[in-house]
Amino acid sequence: MTSIAAPDQSRRDFLFLATGAVGAIGVGAAAWPLIAQMNPDRETIASGVPIEVSLAPIAEGQIISLIWRGKPIFIRHRTPDEIAKEEATRLSDLMDPQSDADRVKAGKAQWLVVYASCTHLGCIPLGKQGDWGGWFCPCHGSQYDASGRVRHGPAATNLPVPPYAFVDDTTIRIGEA
Ligand code: FES
Repeated sequence: MTSIAAPDQSRRDFLFLATGAVGAIGVGAAAWPLIAQMNPDRETIASGVPIEVSLAPIAEGQIISLIWRGKPIFIRHRTPDEIAKEEATRLSDLMDPQSDADRVKAGKAQWLVVYASCTHLGCIPLGKQGDWGGWFCPCHGSQYDASGRVRHGPAATNLPVPPYAFVDDTTIRIGEA
């Protein structure tokens, strides 16, 4: 078991914790030393063991991204407006019908955890863009809402939710349901 604490970021929403080289994209200079200190070592990440992520530093409205078992994952701290909008969405309006409640943990609707690969051909979508304010995939134009549900093709299925569980109020363990 290992832990990752997301750094505080004021300028950008995205944090990439990459396997292998443990690189970072879009992270402010001040944040990088913290990532370097908190990130698990290469062998630990490569082993694919469950990882714990502290949600406490992720501000409301912010999205971070990390790599687990070679796959990118988004963690989004949703705003009350985003939650209300997604909960009010009718299943009949969805391409891949799934309720918002089925995509988050009970009592934790502010936290959305999804795989970050577009279900069309695997590009990483851009957060808070597109007509639904969720994600926009720049490769071929697919769009997702703030529940990670596909709203415009060519993708046809929602961003999947990885196995994870809350360890406490502000910590999740990815890799264990
Ligand atoms: S990979 Fe996202 S729309 Fe094609």
